[in-house]
Amino acid sequence: MTMTELPQRSYLGTPATAPGPAGPDMLRAFGQIRGNPLGYLAGTWHQFGDVVQFPVPRPPSYLVVDPDAVRRVLVGHARNYGKSTIQYRALSLVTGDGLLTADTDQARIQRPMVQPAFHHRTLQAVAGHVAAAIDRVSADWDGRIAQEQTDKQFEAVCDVIVDVDEAMMHAALEVVGHALFGTDLSEDADRLAQATLRGLDVVIARARVPITPPQWVPTPGNVRLRRANGELDRAVQAMTKERLSRSVEPDQPDMLDLLLAVRDDHDGALTQQQIRDQMVTFIVAGHETVASALTWSWALLAANPQWQQALQAESDAVLGEQLPTIEDYQRLPVARAIQDEALRLYPPAWLITRKAREADVLAGREIPAGSLIIMSPWLLHRHAEMWPDPDRFDPARFLGGSAERSAFIPFGAGPRLCIGRDFALVEGALMLAGLARRFSVSYPKGGGLPAADPLVTIRPAGGLPLVISRRR
Ligand code: HEM
Repeated sequence: MTMTELPQRSYLGTPATAPGPAGPDMLRAFGQIRGNPLGYLAGTWHQFGDVVQFPVPRPPSYLVVDPDAVRRVLVGHARNYGKSTIQYRALSLVTGDGLLTADTDQARIQRPMVQPAFHHRTLQAVAGHVAAAIDRVSADWDGRIAQEQTDKQFEAVCDVIVDVDEAMMHAALEVVGHALFGTDLSEDADRLAQATLRGLDVVIARARVPITPPQWVPTPGNVRLRRANGELDRAVQAMTKERLSRSVEPDQPDMLDLLLAVRDDHDGALTQQQIRDQMVTFIVAGHETVASALTWSWALLAANPQWQQALQAESDAVLGEQLPTIEDYQRLPVARAIQDEALRLYPPAWLITRKAREADVLAGREIPAGSLIIMSPWLLHRHAEMWPDPDRFDPARFLGGSAERSAFIPFGAGPRLCIGRDFALVEGALMLAGLARRFSVSYPKGGGLPAADPLVTIRPAGGLPLVISRRR
């Protein structure tokens, strides 16, 4: 597209450097932007191309879907693109200065410090927590089926309708909670997790209204946020105090033990506040994301019985009568490919934003200093040049290493790649395989793939009610 095709020359002094919607069009689309942001982004992309400029003066704002440009922002030229954006500032109301929302310089200090908490031993422990969660979910589903048999007074009943989204949210919270705080989840750990989720609710509610009063104004939301943050501080304080008073080293340190053991180059430990911020960050980053990936995997399996059968055949052959262990992860290529394909079509982190420190050029378009760069794995993963027949669920793309990994960014890329990626991949694949060994899923009569509701992560609108049938 040439400069003459640009819709107007400037937006209140900010030059137009890429095509995009005109101001009145964007105002008219306001309802859709709030109600169906994914649909709006996809429509703008299809209409204007791989780099779109929105008609707002400050900051200059661009949607970037060009695969090479996305890699330049996240990987090649990552130093020019920081996280000081409205998206991360909103999240940091709960996570404080944790790694997820930290800007470049802070992240360079923090990342090596928290890396030990994601050591191989943590993955081994994660596999154990996943096995425990599979056991609990299975007992719950067995119990519901038994209840259904009693209610219907019919022993041959072997299925029941369950909200699988709710079950996966619960299971993922259990796993990240145990990984952080060990297997005997104390009252404080439970309080911490619940307060984190309440704080996150406030952040989501704030994102849904165009004008939010500053934090000192005692609106109901701000009061709830302050209360949640106060509870978080007290819970972390109680837990770290209890840990520090232990006289023996734990045999199996959890992530809190590992954070408490961190020392910087001058032998300095993390402060109470830093530990609080990182723990809350891990709950925020590692709970709903994993649950969303699992929920969409089940939704897609229910819609694609041939892949469900392939998963069951693999689980039966690899796991037999056993719960999965970390050693099984490499032996479950079908489970991993299903998870990858679900992450491609429904990437939980559907939006990644950056702020350009200095001016740059992306896909031939000039990007002024201070610009907001909006990238969406949801769109990139549907780029027809990178993914043949992009809307089709086909895990075979990921079998045999043929997938176009450079355009696959469910965990981001470059120096800010998700630090919990392996944690999440192990958790997801083992959970899918372990539950597929025991149960089949299908849609209730008249049901089908739910609509995607993009909140902090992509959730199924109305949950995911599925018929759960016992296989053994
Ligand atoms: C399927 C599950 C997950 C998905 C889809 C996911 C996605 C992402 C993405 C896209 C980013 C990069 C954001 C950006 O570049 O702006 C990220 C960063 C991060 N994730 Fe995850 N994540 C998942 C699971 C986890 C888990 C289990 C944890 C921890 C227990 C975790 C902790 C983090 C942290 C701390 C960061 C910030 C890393 C940094 O900036 O250096 N994530 N995640």
